[in-house]
Amino acid sequence: MPIPATPYIWFNGKLIPWEKATVHVLAHALHYGSSVFEGVRAYETPKGVAIFRLREHTTRLFDSAKIHRIQIPFQPEQINEACRQAVAANQLKRGAYIRPIAFRGYGEIGVAPKIDPPVDVAVAAWEWGKYLGHESEEAGVDVCVSSWQRVAPNTIPALAKAAGNYLSSQLISQEAKRLGFAEGIGLAPDGTVSEGAGENLFLVKDGVLYTPGLAHSVLGGITRDTVMRLARERGIEIRETSIPREMLYIADELFFTGTAAEVTPIRSVDRLQVGIGRRGPVTETLQKAFFGLFSGATADKWGWLDYVDMQAPLRVAAG
Ligand SMILES: Cc1ncc(COP(=O)(O)O)c(C=O)c1O
Repeated sequence: MPIPATPYIWFNGKLIPWEKATVHVLAHALHYGSSVFEGVRAYETPKGVAIFRLREHTTRLFDSAKIHRIQIPFQPEQINEACRQAVAANQLKRGAYIRPIAFRGYGEIGVAPKIDPPVDVAVAAWEWGKYLGHESEEAGVDVCVSSWQRVAPNTIPALAKAAGNYLSSQLISQEAKRLGFAEGIGLAPDGTVSEGAGENLFLVKDGVLYTPGLAHSVLGGITRDTVMRLARERGIEIRETSIPREMLYIADELFFTGTAAEVTPIRSVDRLQVGIGRRGPVTETLQKAFFGLFSGATADKWGWLDYVDMQAPLRVAAG
């Protein structure tokens, strides 16, 4: 999916033209994967464009940076404001995908140089549709269990959303696509279920919602948390636990969650049909509750929608 260019990118405190937001080929992050990032969505709502759970995404960005000892030279509220500016400056009235990133930039070369390279921070935003396809919302997607496992604890921290982690995701997702599946699921190092290459995973069995706990090499997804809160509110029992692979095959329902994937049903795993082979009733309830947050049908009692002032004055860098 080509990135539709927008006029501006926020880079180190200023809005600059899209094509000028470049980095040196010797930037540390390019060689050693030392960047942390977020994927955030803004939705068109009846009250204007709103960024979904911006605070939580920014907190996770700073948490990821802390884990990797990357000093972000901005305060969280400055990053929140950068996200709002990236949407407003580019007039993304129909909603957007927002990509904040902080990375060790150009300085000394070497895995752990004496002088830490400066940390650069950018926020880009552009219009973006469905990640796993439009039809998938009801019909569901076909997935496989990957031959690649997720990272083991004490190797690369799974809770940090760091660029390096996505080598694992690329292996899983690319293998799945080569084999004709929409996405791949990684197993944790103990052989139990972990998550999709870029999504958390939920399973429904006998009316109970199951998802792997945070110790199973998963990213602590913000959509995962959203769906769990919406489920609890609706009286659905949730168990965060170890899930054996074969439970994927005998589940009544299975679905992915993620900022990109939103709530996407899974209709088959390893060519075995899951439940009725399309979106099941629990998935439908949760998916509707989720999308209702943006249409207004689900009350935003948590203050998850951060409205963007599209008329905000632009602070574009001179020259
Ligand atoms: C590996 C991985 N797991 C889970 C998720 C879902 O997280 P979130 O709901 O915060 O987007 C993502 C996407 O960010 C991801 O890349």
